[in-house]
Amino acid sequence: MKRTERLKDDLTGIARAAAILKAGGLVALPTETVYGLAADALNPEAVAGIYTAKGRPSFNPLIIHVSSPSMAGRFAEIEAARPLINAFWPGPLTLVLPLRAKSGIAPAVTAGHDSIAVRMPAHPVMQSVLAAFNGPVAAPSANPSGRISPTTAAHVETDMDGKIDAILDGGACDVGVESTIISLLDRPRLLRPGGVPVQAIEALTGPLARFSGGSTAPKAPGMLASHYAPVLPVRLNAQKAEDGEAWLGFGPDQPDAPVTINLSEEEDLEEAATNLFAALHEIDAAARAAGLTQIAVAPIPEDGLGLAINDRLRRAAAPRG
Ligand code: TXA
Ligand code: MG
Repeated sequence: MKRTERLKDDLTGIARAAAILKAGGLVALPTETVYGLAADALNPEAVAGIYTAKGRPSFNPLIIHVSSPSMAGRFAEIEAARPLINAFWPGPLTLVLPLRAKSGIAPAVTAGHDSIAVRMPAHPVMQSVLAAFNGPVAAPSANPSGRISPTTAAHVETDMDGKIDAILDGGACDVGVESTIISLLDRPRLLRPGGVPVQAIEALTGPLARFSGGSTAPKAPGMLASHYAPVLPVRLNAQKAEDGEAWLGFGPDQPDAPVTINLSEEEDLEEAATNLFAALHEIDAAARAAGLTQIAVAPIPEDGLGLAINDRLRRAAAPRG
């Protein structure tokens, strides 16, 4: 067990987080999407610690977080990415690009591949930590592998207390689902729907190729069938709650159930995305406390952020491996 320090989102907390990263430690940090579990991307032991703390399979590579496009350019070939970088950074867009020779990135970050996933986050606290640290930070979502992603410091605490060096509390995450991942290795390809709607990206790139299931590409969570799993089973596209079910709703006029949470009464997909993981954490705990055995989920439109929401819900509902 480690003693996990609690840090505030003030100058002292930000400086302490950067110092722990410099020393090779692991710090959970807020981003606009979800909390990330950060380590120095140039330090192999620090990166190995991420895999251990999450129980993450070592074939699943990590995203590096940078403070500027020019920092991205030290590690990745970014020329082809300029239009997307100009339009969406800082923000919830991750780009998979060719890794530069002699980048210095710990091989475990890319799981040995010659490509690297890079993003420049928009969260002001994360930006301040990156500026103070002045280097690339590898950071997957700060949840145990296969479980629901954290959107509050309390979620991280529940799952990671004693396994990491510090948690910096920057409040609840705004976007609520992880970044959209686009590969630019051949033609622009969607690897994971996320916080930037696919339509906004396609306005610049034209129609995106979808993940083809080829054996050379690293697997993204979108390809691991069961992910984001609450403890209870999940039933999608439900019209009402059956006996023994809790209800996760979307829109006005939801059916009755012993435990219910509404992702958005106004049918607002951005609000539903912001609420999604906190609602899954909460409904799972409340349903189990009430002796229920399943979570029924209302249909969510497959449009805008609905693609990312439905992607996460399908994985929450997938058979467990
Ligand atoms: O919003 C986010 O992206 C959050 C915050 C913390 O930034 N991070 C996040 O990381 O969701 P993670 O590890 O949970 O998901 C990133 C996924 C990895 O699972 C991996 O499959 C994919 O990105 N990935 C990383 N490097 C890749 C590469 N070189 N090629 C293809 N996919 C890659
Ligand atoms: Mg994750």
